[in-house]
Amino acid sequence: MLNFKKRMNSGQLLNKEIVNKKGNNIMKKIDLPQAAKLTSPNPVSLVCTLKPDGSTNLATVSWWTYLSFNPNMIAYAMAKTSYSGEMVRSNRKVILTVPGAEIVDAVMGCGSTTGRNTDKSSKFEIELVEIEQSNIKIPAHSRVAIQCNLKEYHEVGDHYLYICDVEQVYGDEAEKALFAWDGYAKIATATQGE
Ligand SMILES: Cc1cc2nc3c(=O)[nH]c(=O)nc-3n(C[C@H](O)[C@H](O)[C@H](O)COP(=O)(O)O)c2cc1C
Repeated sequence: MLNFKKRMNSGQLLNKEIVNKKGNNIMKKIDLPQAAKLTSPNPVSLVCTLKPDGSTNLATVSWWTYLSFNPNMIAYAMAKTSYSGEMVRSNRKVILTVPGAEIVDAVMGCGSTTGRNTDKSSKFEIELVEIEQSNIKIPAHSRVAIQCNLKEYHEVGDHYLYICDVEQVYGDEAEKALFAWDGYAKIATATQGE
């Protein structure tokens, strides 16, 4: 009760929720999007999927993670409305790439345009290259490419979680990885974003 009153009476204490031994307020209640700002830099990937016309769609995705090294598995979450989601649910193939710094502006573009009626690689001038045993292409400027088969997907709130078996992995140390800063407001390399 006392804490409640304190909070109601003092603007400073209004959002303060956790107090240390000395009585100092150290943490306040925040929402999950605010937490995403505090965890910046967050990962950035370009999810590459096959469109019905044989071209490759590219979508910016921060919510991806390694799941298992034995067997190799990854997962990523995409809004239910995403075109990329439709594509991977229909052909079960996807390549998740970590884009290089050279294509930073294009990566932001791929995160604010749907591939439903746009060829993003042309629009944002992203050079695509072929990889073995895949009709999905990947950006030439990629630090990592993880070629996957969709194993299963689950509804998680307003997203689907795509759980994938990893078929092949490629890497290029010369490309600088991009990250999302200030939540997802800015894309930059780790040093540039500081
Ligand atoms: C930095 C950044 C990170 C993003 N991360 C995600 C994500 O993790 N999941 C998601 O569904 N959308 C994410 N988006 C938004 C999608 O990229 C966006 O909705 C895109 O238009 C989807 O394209 P599509 O409809 O061609 O699949 C992100 C956008 C940006 C700029």
